[in-house]
Amino acid sequence: MRPLPGAPGVAAAAALWLLLLLLPRARADEHEHTYQDKEEVVLWMNTVGPYHNRQETYKYFSLPFCVGSKRSISHYHETLGEALQGVELEFSGLDIKFKDDVMPATYCEIDLDKEKRDAFVYAIKNHYWYQMYIDDLPIWGIVGEADENGEDYYLWTYKKLEIGFNGNRIVDVNLTSEGKVKLVPNTKIQMSYSVKWKKSDVKFEDRFDKYLDPSFFQHRIHWFSIFNSFMMVIFLVGLVSMILMRTLRKDYARYSKEEEMDDMIFAVSFIVIIVAMIEDLYTERGSMLSTAIFVYAATSPVNGYFGGSLYARQGGRRWIKQMFIGAFLIPAMVCGTAFFINFIAIYYHASRAIPFGTMVAVCCICFFVILPLNLVGTILGRNLSGQPNFPCRVNAVPRPIPEKKWFMEPAVIVCLGGILPFGSIFIEMYFIFTSFWAYKIYYVYGFMMLVLVILCIVTVCVTIVCTYFLLNAEDYRQWTSFLSAASTAIYVYMYSFYYYFFKTKMYGLFQTSFYFGYMAVFSTALGIMCGAIGYMGTSAFVRKIYTNVKID
Ligand SMILES: *[C@@H]1O[C@H](CO)[C@@H](O)[C@H](O)[C@H]1NC(C)=O
Repeated sequence: MRPLPGAPGVAAAAALWLLLLLLPRARADEHEHTYQDKEEVVLWMNTVGPYHNRQETYKYFSLPFCVGSKRSISHYHETLGEALQGVELEFSGLDIKFKDDVMPATYCEIDLDKEKRDAFVYAIKNHYWYQMYIDDLPIWGIVGEADENGEDYYLWTYKKLEIGFNGNRIVDVNLTSEGKVKLVPNTKIQMSYSVKWKKSDVKFEDRFDKYLDPSFFQHRIHWFSIFNSFMMVIFLVGLVSMILMRTLRKDYARYSKEEEMDDMIFAVSFIVIIVAMIEDLYTERGSMLSTAIFVYAATSPVNGYFGGSLYARQGGRRWIKQMFIGAFLIPAMVCGTAFFINFIAIYYHASRAIPFGTMVAVCCICFFVILPLNLVGTILGRNLSGQPNFPCRVNAVPRPIPEKKWFMEPAVIVCLGGILPFGSIFIEMYFIFTSFWAYKIYYVYGFMMLVLVILCIVTVCVTIVCTYFLLNAEDYRQWTSFLSAASTAIYVYMYSFYYYFFKTKMYGLFQTSFYFGYMAVFSTALGIMCGAIGYMGTSAFVRKIYTNVKID
């Protein structure tokens, strides 16, 4: 869902391909997913957190759980993305070997003093769940239970693991929590586990299927919404072509040749990126974020190229400033919000505090990768296509804009412009939000691509129509095209309010700021993307109209 900054041209797309090929894939340690008999299988402890907000998590061992006696393991587990999300898998200390059953056994003892009891009671009151991983398969378990009148609290102390294997691979894990023990201060609580290995027929490729939720992602709904949007697209494209026909009555065919090549390559590289992202998504937590950072860095010359050439064409002088803004606007925004949320997270002792080393790494990427690439792009852009090439003579003195009806005011047009693009995506928004904030795994990427394509088309059409109306009213200010497309973001942000109050059960300062902070980043990024698309579409359109005027 990250916007690609700028629209790649041929050279940039080629460079991107090359970079993608050269990219060493960050792989987890369990990457082979095959085991010999009695080989070590690591149970990783991930996080605990309230069931109602999947994004609020704390380290598993922030609750006073105890660690098993096994100390040494053969490897560690981390990617940049995981570190950025504040996820740090910790070894459970449980001794598990491939195809080696373990009878119920105590692995450690919790010395329950008053403080520890309070911590557990708080977690149980807030419906805390914990998450673990075995061979990249996620496992969820509930921390404890309160009795009906909410006076006594119980902890589940016995983890019964049933692991399914197919040949030399792990294909299925079930966890059953048993051994309810009442939390009484100044007692000892014994934590125990058992492992049972079972032969299973599940194919290794299908092992994630059981986490998907087909009844939630009903394909019917998606098809219906896509059909709806599609109708809208046909209508809009019809409208735009009518406008074009009217203005370009004479030689319509002449214009349709150029630029097609560019668009095609843009599409291909975009799809490649998406596919590459999806391919590893299931198996590698956090790799999405690394990929996004990488893609942003890789496309930054493109960003620089288009930013630079556009700025030069409009006659801008302070190009260094423009370049810095272009390079750092989105990273700064994201980091700013992340810092802010981090601050609150530290205050609340959440696990989301981002390690210092990771922060430094990201800054290094910004300064030593994104900035130079952007610089190259900007210089190329200024020199190769920085000359003003307006299709007809431009009056140096801006003309006064005549008075017009209220609904022709740019502000009104800008607000109206966002409605249709938002309409075309909002059903998909619901699914994306839900998979981000609740325990659903998003897997209908095909639909998402389709919706994205529809969004692009609708955005371009709507901005063209808006611009056409404004031009008819002799208002030539083109920034309205950017804003009328970007206003989609306002509607998305408004929708996120609805979603917060009616679809989630979050509460408190931490969850609220967390939610709205991330939504703001998401909406702004979406807005910038739509704005850029709308602006590019409209400039092409305006160019065509005025080329025609000159010929006449
Ligand atoms: C896990 O539970 C599911 C559903 O109850 C069952 O079909 C599967 O066989 C179980 N797997 C193992 C390894 O016990």
